[in-house]
Amino acid sequence: MVQPKRVVLLYSGGLDTSCMLKWIPQKYDGCEMVTLTLDMGQGEDLEFAKQKALDLGAIEAHVIDVREEFANRFLIPAVQANALYQQQYPLATALARYLIAEVAVDLAHRTGSDTIAHGCTGKGNDQVRFEVGIRSLDPDMNIIAPIREWDLMRDDAIIYAKENDIPLPDQLNKDYSVDANLWGRSIESGVLEDPNHEPPSDIYTMAQPPEQAPDQADYVTITFEKGVPTAVDQQPMSMIQIVETLNERAGKAGVGIIDMVEDRVVGLKSREIYEAPAAVTLITAHRDLERFTSTIHQNEFKPMIDQRWGELIYKGLWFDPLRESLQAFVETANERVTGTVKVKLYKGHAQVVGRESEFGIYDENLITYQSGHTFNQEDAVGFIQLWGLSTVIAQKSKEKV
Ligand code: ARG
Repeated sequence: MVQPKRVVLLYSGGLDTSCMLKWIPQKYDGCEMVTLTLDMGQGEDLEFAKQKALDLGAIEAHVIDVREEFANRFLIPAVQANALYQQQYPLATALARYLIAEVAVDLAHRTGSDTIAHGCTGKGNDQVRFEVGIRSLDPDMNIIAPIREWDLMRDDAIIYAKENDIPLPDQLNKDYSVDANLWGRSIESGVLEDPNHEPPSDIYTMAQPPEQAPDQADYVTITFEKGVPTAVDQQPMSMIQIVETLNERAGKAGVGIIDMVEDRVVGLKSREIYEAPAAVTLITAHRDLERFTSTIHQNEFKPMIDQRWGELIYKGLWFDPLRESLQAFVETANERVTGTVKVKLYKGHAQVVGRESEFGIYDENLITYQSGHTFNQEDAVGFIQLWGLSTVIAQKSKEKV
């Protein structure tokens, strides 16, 4: 390990990374600390984090609002790829890691830092995402992961903080480990570690427990242009505004709570609770419009690409060339995904109740059961004979087995 001289610390302002701010210069002989805290829509007081970093000895403390970039470069493609890991998790934490890695490498270069430090443990996916990300951008960058190296547990951190004059947060949040941004909130540990224990209803901050949601359904119309969300209820909005609006409205209706046991990259299974009202609503709406405007062949094929795209994001491989290739496919597949989708938000459900598009591969005249339809039913006779030909022959020869 090279002796770090100046370190960019990914700093949340919480207990663990505050301990790291003191521990790193103690362990690595007086190196200088620069902190980086990003606003990704987590809704925390980041100026407070900045002041705390300076009070704890950082030579520079950077707070950067990257919400727009996060929304445009990461969340829009996630919608277009209907990105859900193992069909459930909208990847809020995962997507954010790559942008953090990019900004951290850039800040390290700008401040003459030779090392980046993060607060991940050795058990999770985030260490993989950060480290593959950072190395892809700068193979020579040193990386230190004090929590992993030090094997720091919660209780140890509290003792260390008391001994080193690190202010303990008012509310220790010690029951859960939480990560949040615009795209959702991830909650784990504490009682949630028992996969058979129902999550207490007080863990949610973005979505209401459905039983407390209003009795009245909320209808929301979402407009897409080439798979990109562009308006809510006919009101043109930026992606950030759309996500914020839907987090609010769908969250109120109890939409977007996910309780899942997932497979981590490092081989462990873990139980995590997610809240992602906007993500769930947007992906539900987008997927519907995509099906409406795509051929049967596209509809059968694209989910495979979507799944792989989501897996790459989950597994730390945003910077792999395969992700770009898949994304290029996803973009072309979205060329006609333009139109509106009406979604009914009601007690935990986001249900599509209507869709409209000039590109809909849907012809009411063909499908209607009313008289005057234009579909020639006689065509079906020959079609069925050829379609089932090999199956029928196989059934006959089965008797010979
Ligand atoms: N399991 C999720 C992922 O790997 C979230 C990880 C962070 N979760 C947390 N509660 N701190 O993307």
